[in-house]
Amino acid sequence: MQNDRVIIFDTTLRDGEQSPGAALSVEEKVTIAHQLARLGVDVIEAGFPISSGAQFEATRRIAQEVEGPVIAGLARAVKEDIDRAWEALKGAKRPRIHTFIATSDIHIRSKFASDKYGRTMEEKKERILEMAVEAVRHAKSYTPDVEFSPEDAGRTDPDYLCRVVEAVIDAGATTVNIPDTTGYTMPEEFGGLIRTLFKRVPNIHKAIISVHCHNDLGLAVANSLAAVREGARQVECTINGLGERAGNAALEEIVMALKVRRDIFGLDTGINTKEIYRTSRLVAHLTGIDVQPNKAIVGANAFAHESGIHQDGVLKERATYEIMRPEDIGLERSRIVLGRHSGRHGFRARLEELGYRLSEEEFERAYEKFKELADKKKEVYDEDIAAIVEGEMFRVPQTFTLEYLHISSGTGTIPTATVKVRKGEEVVQEAAWGDGPVDAAYKAIKRATGMEDVKLSDYAIRSVTSGTEALGEVTVRLEAEGRKVVGRGTSTDIIEASVLAFLDGLNKFVALPRER
Ligand code: KIV
Ligand code: ZN
Repeated sequence: MQNDRVIIFDTTLRDGEQSPGAALSVEEKVTIAHQLARLGVDVIEAGFPISSGAQFEATRRIAQEVEGPVIAGLARAVKEDIDRAWEALKGAKRPRIHTFIATSDIHIRSKFASDKYGRTMEEKKERILEMAVEAVRHAKSYTPDVEFSPEDAGRTDPDYLCRVVEAVIDAGATTVNIPDTTGYTMPEEFGGLIRTLFKRVPNIHKAIISVHCHNDLGLAVANSLAAVREGARQVECTINGLGERAGNAALEEIVMALKVRRDIFGLDTGINTKEIYRTSRLVAHLTGIDVQPNKAIVGANAFAHESGIHQDGVLKERATYEIMRPEDIGLERSRIVLGRHSGRHGFRARLEELGYRLSEEEFERAYEKFKELADKKKEVYDEDIAAIVEGEMFRVPQTFTLEYLHISSGTGTIPTATVKVRKGEEVVQEAAWGDGPVDAAYKAIKRATGMEDVKLSDYAIRSVTSGTEALGEVTVRLEAEGRKVVGRGTSTDIIEASVLAFLDGLNKFVALPRER
């Protein structure tokens, strides 16, 4: 392993998927994994196979279908977890088992309270050390590529941590990951911990030292970078910083910090940064978790200059206020590209320039949508095209389609909706009233589709571009019988976008196998 290269370990599909509200189907995870491979990540943590049938299946499919990166699966330091992880991973060209056990006193006290792990803290710690070593040895019997994590390393007694790290490297761990599980540490402190490990663990150079930082105090990226300066050569991170609670270190921030400040770090990654923006959009689209506008690197405002002084500065010389170019992350500056008179050829050419790879069928559907939009809206921007294409590319079979929508709403009136929904040959008409036009429409659709038990747990609307004729994109999160889906719909009419998002969610319930 070159020492001037940082391994990018993406855990969007495992830790990222533990974000509150994220709900990805197996198919969606496979789609994201293919995009992560295009982005050039070194390792994809595809899931935690023993935790559910869906996690197992996603890991298995990714292991089998996605080529390029190492495919990792998570397992507690117990035999059954490791066996199950291997079952899911064995089809991969480059499989990795990632096993972990908690090492901080506070975790040990609550997770290993039973006397079977020892009666005193000292006895428990000895047992945990043995379990870690046994787990690594067992994983090694399946694959040479084994990663070990002492969970909550950030709050673990450093002496004990050094002993655990030395023992698992002796047992054959090729990567040792140091997680700041609770996002508790400060950058100097976390960097200091990595420095201590390099000083005190005699066999440390036989393994790659990795870091995995959570963002509870907003320091996940700073802590990861501090660790890199002390010799860590793998960073675990997620697209858009998704993850448990406040999330994990954001991949795009780590990668661009290393690139922009190469003068400090002198290190490279294998990431094709021009795929960053597209990956961020895809993950936001499929998880239903939008990126905050002021998010570094991929937020809508990351390259926007509002004040006159800044605009003037950037126009004269970009570098006055920009430390990186939007093109570096694959973001073209917004410009009018197409309109009512642009034909099929122009639309296809622009899609290619934007890097979208559509099947013929997807292209035809996207083109129809584009023509409808161009009829309503004079100027069609790249962002509009992205919204259309994302909607078409990840569409499940349309069991229900909207045939007719009529809304009556206004001050002093009772909002009512009439809908006609097609299911195959049958068209069902229903009407309902509600608290507002969207509520009325959703009630009518539930009746028309017979899916009355579906609950709306979240609703969000955003304008794809600016102006009153802009395309509105609605995201809904729906729940039924313990299953969760995300639906999206776009239209220049926000009520129609709301209805399309709801129907998209219902179609997902019908199309996606019961997997969680
Ligand atoms: O945060 C954490 O400690 C983890 C481990 C399983 C690596 O996610
Ligand atoms: Zn984590």
